[in-house]
Amino acid sequence: MQIYRTIAELQQALFTARQQNFSVALVPTMGNLHEGHLALVKQAKTDCDFVITSIFVNPTQFGPNEDLNAYPRTFDEDISALHGLACDAVFAPEVDEIYPDGLKLETRVSVPSLARLLCGTSRPGHFDGVCAVVSKLFNLCSPDKAYFGEKDYQQLCIIRRLVRDLNFPLEIISVQTHREASGLAMSSRNNYLSEDQKQQAAVIFRTLEQSAETLREIQMPDLRSLEEIALGKIQAAGLRPEYFAICNPDTLQPAHSIDQHFRLLTAARLGQTRLIDNIGVNISK
Ligand code: PAF
Repeated sequence: MQIYRTIAELQQALFTARQQNFSVALVPTMGNLHEGHLALVKQAKTDCDFVITSIFVNPTQFGPNEDLNAYPRTFDEDISALHGLACDAVFAPEVDEIYPDGLKLETRVSVPSLARLLCGTSRPGHFDGVCAVVSKLFNLCSPDKAYFGEKDYQQLCIIRRLVRDLNFPLEIISVQTHREASGLAMSSRNNYLSEDQKQQAAVIFRTLEQSAETLREIQMPDLRSLEEIALGKIQAAGLRPEYFAICNPDTLQPAHSIDQHFRLLTAARLGQTRLIDNIGVNISK
């Protein structure tokens, strides 16, 4: 496995891979790899010949008061984990390599109808930063397939829309959320939590599952009341919920009780840590 720090080196390696007719997979990450990331790499390795994992803590997707500096950076451990999976290449550029003209984005890529909702409310600009870096990575790596976790479901919807609208010639593959035994979704931000807090945070998945169960059991549930009840449960466990939303899985607009396909999404704070999770529910009526 080779580690590339510059675009020129990466593109030389890609040129060689393409000469051998290799299909190329890209797994974009911000490092601090956990089982959820490794599942993306494993899937990529099953599907494609040449797998690039990018490790880049992207500054433009962090707001001024967010955890850019504190974000866990564990490069050596990440590289060992990727060695074990026979990943072919790691692209780990410095910030200047990706943003040579500084971090103020002049050219913007944005999907406002999806980006202003849910997490976008408390993280203005976050998804524009994600769209900027993902577009750059797609252009730099020209992968056949790119892999994203369902844990960041809103991000996944936005990237799918970006790819469709701008005709990026690649396929987006999503991979299910990996969870701790407690149900807590795996996330680099779980590193900020104590063991007790991790148990406390399991209320998020429990509440998602209980709400899903109610959706399946009740014929015409009042979705807005279900959302209120769920917020109450998360709050009662000592977290500060930001939203709990029962949405259309594609548009992320509020779902209706006559719908058959739902995505339940939530964000909550525990101490300083912001946690997100979501699940899908399909009902045949
Ligand atoms: O999901 C992430 O880790 C990041 O948002 C991504 C897609 C790697 C872009 O920086």
